[in-house]
Amino acid sequence: MSDWSHRHVLDLAAFSLEDYATVLELAQRFRAMPTSGARKLPALQGRLVTTLFFEPSTRTRSSFELAAKRLSADVQSFSPSSSSLSKGESLLDTVRTYVAMGADLLVVRHRCTGVPASLAHDLDASGERVSVLNGGDGLHSHPSQGLLDLFTLARQFAPEAPTPEALRGRRIVIVGDVLHSRVARSNLWALTACGADVVLCGPPTLLPEAFSDFVAAPPPGQSSDPVARRGSVRIERDLDQALAGADAVMTLRLQKERMTQQLLTSLEHYHRHYGLTHARLERCGASVPVLHPGPVNRGVELSGALLDDPRRSLVEEQVTNGIPVRMALLYLLAAS
Ligand code: NCD
Repeated sequence: MSDWSHRHVLDLAAFSLEDYATVLELAQRFRAMPTSGARKLPALQGRLVTTLFFEPSTRTRSSFELAAKRLSADVQSFSPSSSSLSKGESLLDTVRTYVAMGADLLVVRHRCTGVPASLAHDLDASGERVSVLNGGDGLHSHPSQGLLDLFTLARQFAPEAPTPEALRGRRIVIVGDVLHSRVARSNLWALTACGADVVLCGPPTLLPEAFSDFVAAPPPGQSSDPVARRGSVRIERDLDQALAGADAVMTLRLQKERMTQQLLTSLEHYHRHYGLTHARLERCGASVPVLHPGPVNRGVELSGALLDDPRRSLVEEQVTNGIPVRMALLYLLAAS
């Protein structure tokens, strides 16, 4: 844990293999904690975690708040509709107000790419000792979701020792609306860092060819890739072909709110070609699990029967795992 050097968690492109190992190891320890009775650790006693979600959220926000409470932090949560933003206050001034109230850790979600990073930059520049955790920004990044998906897969492949090594050489299929998905982007960084080979599947309107080069170079502003050798990324348009030999399948919500033009013929057509069902999964082994970050469009990305099948669906497991993973992130940032 001594090697942890991040003041903020903004994008998994900046994570080394050691960073992933540190988060998974801590998450595994927190996952083993009892969820009833004496379930609080004193690690963040006296610290204030503020969640600032400028975009709707069911899972991420409550998961961060629960994670903070399990570490004995004080939790404050900001709600944009009832705030002074509607009176014309700037985003930075709103955030500074919470920092002035003593926030130590800010969890920020915004519909625009780059907002958490730019807040972190401005707060650093003015000498504030506050950490920013990206709770999802635009199409760009959703680091805590990428990490909880990684943890869920590692536990699936190696329940006793869910380390990055558990992912090496695994074939993970990501199917659906990759273009609009910050979850897919974060998963691409995380999975390839751990040596998994990713197969992306979707129609060209939702999965442009350029995604096969997504992890080939560090993103703008980052001089080098902290991971020496990544797993591969390839695109397969045909879902049945993509599923052959898969070790796990992750499907993504169709993000209709982010689509600026007509990108789909119809939801029925989409489900027929890219929807997951039990019949479709016969292509891969009986134990191949299915993941979805939620919220799910039932009967579109995957059938209701598959979503509710505990032998196949890891969707609830992902939600459960989100808490120890976010505890690990809060713990590491508070300690640094
Ligand atoms: C995702 C998000 O908001 O990026 N959901 C989540 O955090 N669990 C994915 C989505 O909205 O489809």
